[in-house]
Amino acid sequence: MGTKLIMLAVVSVLLAYYVYIPLPEAMGERWKLMVVDACFRSLEHLAELTELIGLKHYMEMMMVLTAAETVGPSSDENVTVMDTTFNKVPVRVYEPSSLHPGLRRAVIYMHGGGWCLGSAKMLNYDVLSRKSASELNAVIVSVEYRLAPEHHFPDQFNDVYTVVKFFLQPDVLTQYSVDPGRVAVSGDSAGGNLAAAVAQQVQEDPEVEVEIKIQALVYPALQTIDFNTPSYQQNKNMPILPKSLMVRFWSEYFSRDKSLLNNMMTNSHTTLESRGLSDLVNWSVLLPEKFRKDYKYALPGCGSTASSARVPGVFDPRAAPLLAGDEKLKALPQAYIVTCEYDVLRDDGAMYAARLEKAGVRVTHEHYEDSFHGALMFVTWPTDFAIGQKMMNHYIDWLRQNL
Ligand SMILES: *[C@@H]1O[C@H](CO)[C@@H](O)[C@H](O)[C@H]1NC(C)=O
Ligand SMILES: *[C@@H]1O[C@H](CO)[C@@H](O)[C@H](O)[C@H]1NC(C)=O
Repeated sequence: MGTKLIMLAVVSVLLAYYVYIPLPEAMGERWKLMVVDACFRSLEHLAELTELIGLKHYMEMMMVLTAAETVGPSSDENVTVMDTTFNKVPVRVYEPSSLHPGLRRAVIYMHGGGWCLGSAKMLNYDVLSRKSASELNAVIVSVEYRLAPEHHFPDQFNDVYTVVKFFLQPDVLTQYSVDPGRVAVSGDSAGGNLAAAVAQQVQEDPEVEVEIKIQALVYPALQTIDFNTPSYQQNKNMPILPKSLMVRFWSEYFSRDKSLLNNMMTNSHTTLESRGLSDLVNWSVLLPEKFRKDYKYALPGCGSTASSARVPGVFDPRAAPLLAGDEKLKALPQAYIVTCEYDVLRDDGAMYAARLEKAGVRVTHEHYEDSFHGALMFVTWPTDFAIGQKMMNHYIDWLRQNL
């Protein structure tokens, strides 16, 4: 009996030790977040282990989570849901069934998951798309783009581009009763990256006649030059996206090559050519004081033989939209950019907001002082957070007023 009690006490202490992480006072529902984070960390450790013993690629193991959350295309009284393909790329389309006369809005949505994980079919994205469709009287096209490590850049980008280009054809818009003047591209995290990239590229495509009205970017990943911005430093161990995982996502987007990952982790992956791009992500100029705090700016270092130079795409603006020149930013659609204080990607979004504004683009930068990366995904029981619900409501309200 005595030994059992002692064992129980030891296990409880170890469990509490594993789950407990110091989180800033400002964050809400901290214990719940710690438990969610502990689950993520356990899966990450398991993925590391299965990779180490050669059983599965790290991301294949992580994909278990996505698979567990998948739901079918079920229609309800407000929304008709259908899985189909646009020019061979799978999409899930949500059409509002309300009988509003006239043309409807549309949002082309890209899910998050670091170009490696996630799916339009996940419950949380299904909830978001359903709600957007019925509340905005909008057609939502949720894109099921290909993922790493099976597929690398530019496949993810190309899939999204294909869908956007297909949908923006006048006859397709007519078929879906969509107003050509009210189409948005949107996404969270890696999906925000794809939305920003496609908004930049499509404006230069002579074959696309219809313009995108809005780009809505929720805590997007936007640059590959500097993984030591103040937010990367301040939040390197924050749930649910530690710096190690974000940098792993970036490197997997381009290559399985571990040397790229290692160089990115030490911020020594840049090349002599890419140094010329550093001023586009110079956070000592682009960030407000409250984000810079006391962090000291240092130019990212060059790797010895610059393995990243051999990996195509790392500094391509289609992969890292913050690396587009000022000229290219001028004609971009109005932007809604969400950032979170406790997120390694905070400064990517904040710098893009600053550069777009300087280029004359209308920008709404909504910064959440109390949020973590990925909050928008946490809107369904049992992993529902008040901050996620708030973020979703603000996002939809903003689109209601601007799209
Ligand atoms: C349909 O919309 C109404 C009004 O917004 C809402 O009360 C209802 O819960 C919705 N139905 C579903 C299945 O979401
Ligand atoms: C970044 O800005 C700082 C401060 O203005 C400046 O000293 C530095 O040279 C800049 N670095 C780059 C790469 O533009």
